[in-house]
Amino acid sequence: MEAKKLAGEKAAEFIENGMKIGLGTGSTVYWTILRVGQLVKEGLQIEAIPTSKQTEALAKEHGIPLTDFSKVTQLDLTIDGADEIDEHFNLIKGGGGALLREKLVAAASKHFIVVADESKLVKTLGQFPLPVEVTPFAWEVTAQRIVSLNGNPVLRKKENQTFITDNGNYILDCHFKQISNPADLHNKLKLITGIVETGLFTNLTDMVVAGTENGARLME
Ligand code: 5RP
Repeated sequence: MEAKKLAGEKAAEFIENGMKIGLGTGSTVYWTILRVGQLVKEGLQIEAIPTSKQTEALAKEHGIPLTDFSKVTQLDLTIDGADEIDEHFNLIKGGGGALLREKLVAAASKHFIVVADESKLVKTLGQFPLPVEVTPFAWEVTAQRIVSLNGNPVLRKKENQTFITDNGNYILDCHFKQISNPADLHNKLKLITGIVETGLFTNLTDMVVAGTENGARLME
């Protein structure tokens, strides 16, 4: 927990007065959100777009002013977590099921900082099953198409019920084992009708703040 806290809090140092920011989802960015709440109480003026209902509730609880894409179409900075990060800063995201909003927010940001404990750093993506958001209608057919790409999809459940995303969709956790070309796999998956978005984030990350038990390392 200390590693996540150190990474999450360190990233908040990059937030400047007047910025419009994106707030990610998960147990690492949780610490960023708490720190932003403190800074707002001390006078920092920012507005934030949350990437999930969970983050929206947390941000409200901590007094962070919120905005949305009807008022702001570009953000200065987004801070978010990740499930795996490779040497080229390709990511697997979506462990918390928020990948679609997370990608929309990251793509609308000038800068994107990833916060994670060191265990998330890997040579090649794929040990963590890739979350893929799909429409509930015909999800079984979509899953079969993913099988033909060797993805081995498993419908995500939570407390014995099918997990539903904030957008009303399902998640298929896909076991690819080794994803040697993340951009290529993402493109192939996106051609399948029924796939809304994949948890592969390529070409988005500017910096990784990697937490250890003793500190946080900036990787650019
Ligand atoms: C949610 C995500 C999270 O950023 C990812 O799962 C990492 O979470 P944590 O910081 O709790 O390990 O992508 O959809």
